Amino acid sequence: MLKQKDVTGLLDLSAEEIDEILTVGAEMKQLLRKGVKSLPDLKGKAVTTLFYENSTRTRSSFELAAKFMSANVVNIVAASSSVQKGETLVDTGKTLDAMRNDVIVIRHPMGGAPKLLAKTVKAHVINAGDGMNEHPSQALLDMLTMRETFGQIKGLKVAILGDIRHSRVAKSNLFGLRKLGAEVTMYAPKTLMPTGIDKMGAKVCKSREEAVEGADVVMGLRIQLERQHGGLFPSLGEYAKFYGVNEEVMKYAKKTAIVMHPGPVNRGVELTCSLIDGDKSKIEDQVFSGVAVRMALLKLLTMQEAER
Ligand code: CP
Repeated sequence: MLKQKDVTGLLDLSAEEIDEILTVGAEMKQLLRKGVKSLPDLKGKAVTTLFYENSTRTRSSFELAAKFMSANVVNIVAASSSVQKGETLVDTGKTLDAMRNDVIVIRHPMGGAPKLLAKTVKAHVINAGDGMNEHPSQALLDMLTMRETFGQIKGLKVAILGDIRHSRVAKSNLFGLRKLGAEVTMYAPKTLMPTGIDKMGAKVCKSREEAVEGADVVMGLRIQLERQHGGLFPSLGEYAKFYGVNEEVMKYAKKTAIVMHPGPVNRGVELTCSLIDGDKSKIEDQVFSGVAVRMALLKLLTMQEAER
């Protein structure tokens, strides 16, 4: 069971809590593998997904996770809601609380929005990605795939390459992986590398090869075209040539290394198509882990009421 009411970031979770989520996520994944898609854990609970940004994987996997555990689910997309009439986030939260929601899953372009909502509502709040801040459930699902592949996170070397500056996935993975004892190396064009990430525990490298040398996991991150305001790199073609991960770069990783990407992928930019579709790729398993880890999060948060 988690101690805090909300999951807004991995910076706020202890190593023990992360480990517990991964253990329950692994159990959920086993049940899903056996075809179990109807569990009673959230019977009588109401879950709302509230998305102010586009999503395929995160929104639909939270919805499936809640439905697989017998919750009632409502999906709100800000673009077609009363947000368009000027309703504030706090007022939207109060409205959802008044409807007796038990859990609100929120994605928002502003870093800190889930924490603001969490302070406002009685419902549990789960951050499904806030601006350039954190995407905790993505990092948890990434860690579940790593743990299942290698048996443990401790001692792994994880290389993260791509648009680290705009990436909430990079930050949540860095916080979670370091807490569980992994080494994290990073490489990006200087314009896409945030200052101070080394002080958060990352080893910032001078080349793709240095970052990937001896890695167990090579993770490409999407170039976030929607958050670029021009001039950060010359073109997608040049990005792929000088900064992307290809078979030559993968020769520096361990023979047993896996390739990961949170998606959506710009094919042939962050990773070559042959790596995305190849034997080392765990991208589809990450999506599978996503449903399981979100089931674990919903279960562990809503258990709090039963334990009181
Ligand atoms: N990885 C991820 O957050 O994907 P979506 O934007 O499709 O949810």
